[in-house]
Order: sequence, then C-alpha cells, then structure tokens
Amino acid sequence: MTKVTLFKGDGIGPEICESVVRIFDALKVDVEFEPFEVGEAEYYRNGALIPNAAFDSIERNKIILKAPITTPIGKGFRSCNVQLREKYDLYTNIRPAKSLPNVKTPFENIDMVIFRENTEDLYVGIEEKIDENTVHATKVITRKCSERIIRAAFNYAVKNNRKKVSCIHKANILKMSDGLFLSIFNEIKEEYPTIETDVYIVDNACMQMVMHPEKFDVMVMPNLYGDILSDLSSGLIGGLGFLPSANLGDEVAMFEAVHGSAPDIAGKNLANPTALLLSACMMLEYIGKEEPAKQIRSALFEVLEEGTVRTRDCGGTATTTEFTDAIIEKLN
Ligand code: NAI
Repeated sequence: MTKVTLFKGDGIGPEICESVVRIFDALKVDVEFEPFEVGEAEYYRNGALIPNAAFDSIERNKIILKAPITTPIGKGFRSCNVQLREKYDLYTNIRPAKSLPNVKTPFENIDMVIFRENTEDLYVGIEEKIDENTVHATKVITRKCSERIIRAAFNYAVKNNRKKVSCIHKANILKMSDGLFLSIFNEIKEEYPTIETDVYIVDNACMQMVMHPEKFDVMVMPNLYGDILSDLSSGLIGGLGFLPSANLGDEVAMFEAVHGSAPDIAGKNLANPTALLLSACMMLEYIGKEEPAKQIRSALFEVLEEGTVRTRDCGGTATTTEFTDAIIEKLN
C-alpha cells in the first residue's frame, strides 16, 4: 500500500479531493491517503498555512496530491505553492495539455507538454521598494536550474517518443537572463540528435499556440512564461478544469490541478474534478501503478465522450457529485 499525503486545500479543494478519493475507493486503488487541512482556512484556524504534521507526512511519504490553495494578494504570507516547490526543490513542472473526448473547443488534436522551470525566475520573490513610486523585482536565471529543466524536457521527449522540444524565451529583451536560458538550450540540444528543436520568443509563442497549436510538442521555458502559457494551453483543451500537473524533485513529487481555488464557485458542488483526477492518474503512473491510472482515464473519457453528464464549465448541468458518480459507474 503506497501512502500519499493529501492536501485538501481551499475553495473548491475539498470538493474535488472528495471526488478523487471516492473514485480511488471505488476502484480499490492500492493507495492510502493521509489527508491534511492546509491553506488559508487552516492559517486562520491554527496560525500556519501548512501544519507541522503535514510536513512530517510529506517527509515520510515523499508523494503529495494537492488541491489548490488560496494566496491572498498583497502583504502577509508567501504562496504555499512557491514554499513547497522551494522547500522540496520541485524543479520540474510538467503540464500536459491534450484534447479530451467530446470536449468541444475551436481546436482539435491538441497534444503539447509544457515543462516549466519551477524554482526561480521572478518567483524568487525578491522585490525592492526604491521609492514611493518605484519597485524593482528580481528575475533569477541560473545555469544549474536551466540545465536541469531543459534536460528533463529532452529526457521526457526521448522516453515518450515525442518528436520535438521548443524553447520559449524573451532573450531579445532580457539578453542576459533569458539569453543564458536560450544558450543552455542550444548547448543541451546537441546531446539529443534524434529530437527536433525550435525556439520562439514568448509573445510569438502565444500567437502560434492559438493559430497553429499543432506546431507544439514538448515545450520548455522559464517559470513565468510557463505559468502563463500553461493556462493558455488549458484554454485550448476546454479550460482550467481539465489541466493536470506534476511537480517533480529528486526526492519528493507533488501532483496538482493547474487551476486555483475558484472562490467564485466554492462550496456549491459545481467544480470540475477532472484536472485533479488526471493529476492523480499522473501520480499513479509515477509510482508505477499504471493499471488503475488507465482504468480511471478510460472511465473518465467514456463519461466525457457520452456527454450527458458534464459540469457547468463545459456546458453541462451536473454537480461535482453527479459527475463523480458517473465515473464510478463506468468503473464497475
Ligand atoms: P482559479 O483557477 O481559481 O479560477 C479561474 C476561473 O476558472 C474561475 O472562474 C473558476 O471558477 C474557474 N475554475 C477553476 N477551476 C475550476 C474547476 N475545477 N471547475 C470549474 N471551474 C473552474 O484562478 P483565480 O480566481 O485567479 O485564483 C483563485 C485563488 O487560487 C487565488 O488565491 C490564487 O492565488 C489561487 N491559486 C492557487 C493555485 C494552486 O494552489 N496551485 C494555482 C492558481 C491560483
């Protein structure tokens, strides 16, 4: 039995977690969840975003399934997500955007995988007030972090029979920082002669992704562009409710939906649990449990394909519970 630390999160977090846990239970997946309240609500209750017992659990289990956590804007605490990525050095953020059965969008056959550097760039959180009207923010790009994310993207391409890796940058303006990232990409690509490569300036990449998404296969980029382009990629496949992700380090791995806590629909049983469920499937594959991952994906795809039970974000009227029930029915 594999033990997994489960963060129930804020907003819609507890609702989508319940959906995943029910589906795992129905299939009798060989995973035991250790659930924890974390996030904003926990902070106001007990004074810590992540309780110590949850850190102890992570350090024992090394695997986290995490629901979204609210990050209040402005002063106060630092994003829980950024903290976890830093503490456990979860440097590889993988966000696969793939068209889903019968989820209609203006695009077809989308199949791109974004590799987002997860530990530096503007997310180091160094901001300096120069005077009342001027603030500087520091963008950090290092050889070490660039090399490891670029290598991770190429290794993934080789392992998964992908054809191409594209580098996304803004080296025309950020000549030193993104210039370093781009030059490391150009060095490392020489080690992978079977993989095609190309490079895009980030603004052009945005246009190409909506005009010619078929051009993209595996994509690698610094942190901020990865954050923005991956939300864009979710729009190509039906919205944030559908985009899963993995955050991998050398020791700990964390799986989560790309979306946030969706306060506008929280507590209403309206959330689409697909993104967290697909993240849970990525987790199962990571721990070598391919079979239950396959069964869950195929039950989910059947429900989507039939199209009679779907959540509001993709044009249906089903509640989170009804959508979950429909998936469970397909498992039986
Ligand atoms: P959001 O992703 O929570 O919501 C954006 C829009 O997408 C909303 O209209 C929401 O209803 C919809 N949406 C998102 N997930 C959905 C789902 N599963 N089913 C149906 N509709 C869904 O982004 P927002 O509003 O910018 O952020 C809310 C909070 O979440 C903020 O505090 C933010 O910092 C936090 N956040 C946390 C993340 C994490 O924990 N990994 C990631 C992104 C944001």
